[in-house]
Amino acid sequence: MCRIVGYIGYNQATPILLNGLGRLEYRGYDSAGVAVFGDKGIVKARSEGKLVNLKKKTESTDVSGTVGIGHTRWATHGEPNETNCHPHSSMNGKFVVVHNGIIENYDVIKKQLLKNGVKFLSETDTEVVPQLLEYYYDGDVLEAIRKVTNELTGSYALGILCADCPDIIFAARKSSPLIVAKGENENFIASDISAILDYTKTYTTLNDGDIVELKKDSVKLFDKDLNEKEINFTVTDLDLSAVMKNGYEHFMLKEINEQPEKVKGLFDSYVSDGKVDIPELEKLSDCLENCEKIYAVACGSAYHTSIAGKYVIEQFSRIGVETDIASEFRYRSPILNEKTPVIIISQSGETADSIAALRMAKEHSAPVIGIVNVVGSTIYRESDCVLYTKAGPEIAVATTKGYATQLMMFYLIALYLAQKKGTLTAQEIAQYCAELETIPEKAERLVKNTAQIEKYSDRYKSSKNFFFIGRNTDYAAAMEASLKVKEISYISSDAYASGELKHGTIALIDKGTPVISFCANKRLFDKAWSNAEEVVARGAEVICVVSQKDEEKIKEGYGKIVLEDICDEFSTMLEVIAMQIFAYYIAKGNGCDIDKPKNLAKSVTVE
Ligand code: F6R
Repeated sequence: MCRIVGYIGYNQATPILLNGLGRLEYRGYDSAGVAVFGDKGIVKARSEGKLVNLKKKTESTDVSGTVGIGHTRWATHGEPNETNCHPHSSMNGKFVVVHNGIIENYDVIKKQLLKNGVKFLSETDTEVVPQLLEYYYDGDVLEAIRKVTNELTGSYALGILCADCPDIIFAARKSSPLIVAKGENENFIASDISAILDYTKTYTTLNDGDIVELKKDSVKLFDKDLNEKEINFTVTDLDLSAVMKNGYEHFMLKEINEQPEKVKGLFDSYVSDGKVDIPELEKLSDCLENCEKIYAVACGSAYHTSIAGKYVIEQFSRIGVETDIASEFRYRSPILNEKTPVIIISQSGETADSIAALRMAKEHSAPVIGIVNVVGSTIYRESDCVLYTKAGPEIAVATTKGYATQLMMFYLIALYLAQKKGTLTAQEIAQYCAELETIPEKAERLVKNTAQIEKYSDRYKSSKNFFFIGRNTDYAAAMEASLKVKEISYISSDAYASGELKHGTIALIDKGTPVISFCANKRLFDKAWSNAEEVVARGAEVICVVSQKDEEKIKEGYGKIVLEDICDEFSTMLEVIAMQIFAYYIAKGNGCDIDKPKNLAKSVTVE
C-alpha cells in the first residue's frame, strides 16, 4: 500500500526521505517519488519500480533542499508508471501532494475541474487533490485545505507542499494512517513510526479530520474547521533493532523466531496463579457474560485466528462464535445490537475492510473488542476495548508473530470467559493455563530445530499444488498453512476440512499430490487418520503433522512432522508455526522474494 514520509529541518531532505521510504519498503509498492523544496522551487524525482531506481533519479536531478515529501505507491488508479507516480502537482505547480488512500469521488471532482479548464496529467484519483487546492487557493493554504478536505470522500493521508510556503509542510488525514513526529529542530510526517526511528521516537497519531502545519521548529494541529488543538506527543518504546533483520536472512525468519518470546509476553501479562485476568475486558464483562453470541471479524490470517478461537471459545465458555471475513460482513445484514459483542482482529489496525466492519458494528450499538498490534492505529482507537498483542513491528508481509499473538489472545479470552461464566472449574482453568505456559518453550524448540520440516520443504518445493486437511482446531491450522504457502511461494494450495474432501475435491488428488494432514488434535486422530488413508489410496503423498503421543500410529511410508504434545485445544499454535517454517523453506528453495511477495502489501488500507 502507499506510504508517506515528510521531512522539514536543517538537513538535506532527500537522503532522509529515501531512508524513511526504505524502512517502509516491506509494505509493498510499485513506484516511488520525492518532491523537495530547493532554490529553484519544488523539484520532483519519480520512478517506476523499486527505490534503487528512485535513488538513481535523485542522483541525476537536483533535489537538494531541507524540506520535502516522499511516497511509495501501490497502484490502484492507473498503471504503476512514472506519470501516475506521486508526488502529484497542480496545473500551475502551486501545490504538490503525496497521498495514501482512495478519493472515492475523484471522478466527479475531476469532471468539474476539467469543465473549468484544469488540465490533468495522470490517471490517478490523487491528482484531484493538488488541482482542487490550487482551484480554491486565494493566499491562505490552510483554508484551501479545509475546503478541499470537506469535499473529498474516501480515505486520505496527505502530505502537501505549497510553492508560496518554502518553510512549511502541510498534512491532513482521514481513515488512512499518518503520524507527526518531533525531533531537535526538525519535524516529520510518516505513515508509521518505523519510517523515522533513525531520527526520533517522539510522535503523535493524527485523528480523522486533523490538519497539520509543520515547520522545522513548530507543529500546529487543527481540527477540520481549523480550530487549533492541543498536541499530545508520546514516545515509542520501539527501537531500531525492531525494524532490522538482526542477522537473520529474512524478516519472516526473524519474526518466526520471535514468536516464543512474544506469546510468553502475553501469557505473563494476563495469567497469574492459574487464573486469567484481562482488565481491558472488565467494562464489557456484563455483556460478555450474558451474551449468546460473539462475532469475530477479520481478513486473511487474522480471520484464520478467529476460526481457531471459535472452537476454543465455544468449547470453554459455551458462547457461540460466528466468524466472518470483514469484506463479507460489511455487505451482509448481521444481527447486531448491544448484546452482540464483535471482536475485530487486525495486526496493523488499519485494514480497510476490518475498519468498516468495526464502524458498522458500532452503528448498531454492538460493543467492539479490538485485537490489535499497532498502538494508535484506527482499530486501536475506535474499539471500545483494546487487547494489544505486543508482537512488535511485523515487517515481513506474511504474518507470523502477528498470527501467534492473536491466537494466544483468543486462548486467553476463551479461558477468561469460561472463568467468568463458570463453565470450567477453577482446577480446569489452572490446568489449561499450565498447558498454555508450555507453549513458548515448545515453540522455541520447534523454531530452533527445523530439520524435520526443511526436509519436506525441499522434497516438495517443485509441487504444483498442495492440499492441507484437518478437523476442528486442526482445520483452522490447515487454512493458515495453505495461505502461507500460497502467498510466499506462489504455489497453489487448498485447505479442506478433512471430512469434506470426499464431497468433490478428492477428484483433484493424483499420484504424487502432496497432502499435509493435521492430526495433532489427539481426540480426532483416528478420524483424521482415515481421511489421510483415503487420499493415499488415490495416490497422494501424505505428511502427517502429529503429536509425539500419536507418532507411533503413523504407518511406514507416510511423511511426518512431529510436534511436542500439547492439549488438543491449543495444538493449532504449534501446527501453524511448523507450517510457517515449511512455507518459508519452500519459498527460499524457490528463490522467492520472501519478505515482499509479489502483488501483496503489508496493510491493506483500501477496500
Ligand atoms: C497473511 C497476512 C494477511 C493479513 C490480512 C489482515 O500472511 O498477513 O492475510 O492477515 O491482510 O491484516 P491485518 O491483520 O493487519 O488486519
